[in-house]
Amino acid sequence: MDYKKYIAEKLKVEGVSEDEIYSSIALPPNTEMGDYALPCFKFAKVLRKSPVAIAEELKNGYATDEVISEVSAVNGYLNFKVNKGGFTAGVLEKIAKEGAKYGSSDMGKGKTICIDYSSVNIAKPFHIGHLSTTVIGGALYKLYKFLGYDVVGINHLGDYGTQFGKLICAYKHWGNKEEVEKGGIHAVNDLYVKFNTEADEEMEREAREYFRLIESGDKEANEIFEWFKSLTLKYVKGIYDKLGVTFDSYAGERFYTDKMQPVIDELREMNLLKESEGAQIVDLEKYNLAPCLILRSDGASLYATRDLAAAVYRKQTYDFCKCLYVVAYQQNLHFKQVFKVLELMGKEWAKDLVHVAYGMVSLEDGAMSTRKGKVVWLEDVINKCIEKAYSIIEEKNPDLENKSQIAEQVGVGAVIFGALYNSKIKDIVFSYDKVLSFEGETSVYVQYTCARANSVLLKAGEKGSIPQNYQPNAQEYEVVKTLATFPDILKDAAEKYEPSIVTRFAVDLAQKFNKFYIDCKILTAEGDAKKFRLALTNATLQTLKNALSILGIGVPEKM
Ligand code: ARG
Repeated sequence: MDYKKYIAEKLKVEGVSEDEIYSSIALPPNTEMGDYALPCFKFAKVLRKSPVAIAEELKNGYATDEVISEVSAVNGYLNFKVNKGGFTAGVLEKIAKEGAKYGSSDMGKGKTICIDYSSVNIAKPFHIGHLSTTVIGGALYKLYKFLGYDVVGINHLGDYGTQFGKLICAYKHWGNKEEVEKGGIHAVNDLYVKFNTEADEEMEREAREYFRLIESGDKEANEIFEWFKSLTLKYVKGIYDKLGVTFDSYAGERFYTDKMQPVIDELREMNLLKESEGAQIVDLEKYNLAPCLILRSDGASLYATRDLAAAVYRKQTYDFCKCLYVVAYQQNLHFKQVFKVLELMGKEWAKDLVHVAYGMVSLEDGAMSTRKGKVVWLEDVINKCIEKAYSIIEEKNPDLENKSQIAEQVGVGAVIFGALYNSKIKDIVFSYDKVLSFEGETSVYVQYTCARANSVLLKAGEKGSIPQNYQPNAQEYEVVKTLATFPDILKDAAEKYEPSIVTRFAVDLAQKFNKFYIDCKILTAEGDAKKFRLALTNATLQTLKNALSILGIGVPEKM
C-alpha cells in the first residue's frame, strides 16, 4: 500500500496540488515522531499563515482511521503514524506473494541500458585494480534487469595498440608455443615484462613493424594476436564465472577500426577538427577542458577516437536510454572530453552517457604496483579469500557438509561485498580479515544471518503465517519497516549507480533481524506470536537473498 498516496488524497490544502503534497511527504528523521511527515514550511507563502498554524489546522481537519492511527502537529510538521498492524500485514503479505521477485519493478520496461564494464586489456594482467569495475558493473547489470530494463553488458576490450607489436616481437625472440599454451596469460605477461626490461633499439623497431603488420592484416601477426586474445578471454571468463558476471558483447577497441572514419569525416564536415602540431584535435578550451586528440601526427587514431566511434555504434545498435561507463576516476577527463565532443557533434543523446567513476583498490599489505610485473592478480585475491573462508569454517563448524562449496560462496561473497560496501568513489584498502569477519559489516555476517534464519525455519518445520490484527512489538516493527523500504532502496541505488546502497541495506536488515532474534523468542513463542515471528523470519530471509543475488552473492543454507 502506498501510504503517502493515501495521506495525500485525504489531505486538502488550498492552492496546493495533491501531487505536490505527495512529493513533500517524507520519512521523519526521528521515527518516534511518526512514520511519515509533511513539512508545512513551503505552504506558508501560499496560505499566508505560519507553518505552525498550518500544521495545527491540518491536524484538526484530518480524521484518523484504520490505516493512519495518529496525527500530530509539531513545530510546523504534520506527523502521521500508521496503524502498525495493518502496515505489517501489508508488507509481509507482499513479500510472501512476490518471493524472489520482491523489490523488482517494471519501471524499465521497453528501455535499454548499456553498461561498459570490466573492459579488460588483452595480454595484460587482470589485477585487483579491475575488481571494482567488474563487481560494480556486475551489480548494476543485475539491478537494472531486476527493475525491468533490457541491459547490454559490454566488455570494451583493450585490444588495440602498439603493445601488441611488442608482444609478438618478444614471443618471436624468446617464446615458444608449448610454454605459452601451458602458462597462459601469465606466460604472455612475462614476455611483455621481459620486453619492457630487456628490449633494445632494434627490437623496438621490430615491434613497431609487427604492430604495422597486425594493422595491415598480415596473416601470421594476426594469428599470434588472436591466440593471445583467446588465452586472455579464456582466463578472464573463468574469473567472471566465479564472480557471477556476464557480458552480452565483447566488442573491443579493435572492433571500431573501420568505424572511426565516418566519425572523423563528420567532425571535419562540422568544422570541429583543428590541426595542432600536426595532430588533429577538437578544441575544448571554451569548456575548460584540454583538447581531445583525434588523430596523431602520424595519422594513428587514439583511445578517444575509438570511444567516439563506440558511442555512435552503441546508440545505433541498441538505442539505449543510458550508456554507463564503469571506469576509474583517473579517466574523468577522458570521458568529459568524449561526451563533450559528441555533444558538439549535435548528438542529443550525449546527455545519456554517464561515467560511473570509482576509487582505487589497494591491498592492506602494500599498494599494488604494475611496474615490472609486480602485480596483485585478482584471481589470487579471490582464491586466498576462498582458502581463508575454508579454514574459518573448518575451525567453527568442522562437521558442515559441502564445506568447499560453502567456502567458495563465502570467499567470493567477501571479495564482492568488500568492494561494494563503501560509496564507489572512495579509495578502498582491501583487508582479508575485515571482509571475512563474522561480526563486521560484511557479506559473511549477512550470509550467517540467512543461515540462522534458515535454521529456525527448518526447526519449526513451517514458515508461519500472518495473524489478523497482530500488533508487532518494537523489535519486530523495526524489521518490518526495513523490509518495507527494499523496493525504494533498489530504485535509489539504480538512480545513483550506487551498489553500496544495497550492501548497506543488507547489513542494516541483518542487524535489525539479529536484534529481534536475540530479544524475542521465536521457536518457543506461542500462538499468534510464533506464527508471526516465523513469517517475519521467512520474509527477512527472502529479502536478504534477493539483495545478495543482485550483488552476485550466493546464500549457503547452513554455515
Ligand atoms: N581498457 C580500459 C582500461 O583498462 C578501460 C576501458 C573502459 N571503457 C571505455 N569505453 N573506454 O583502462
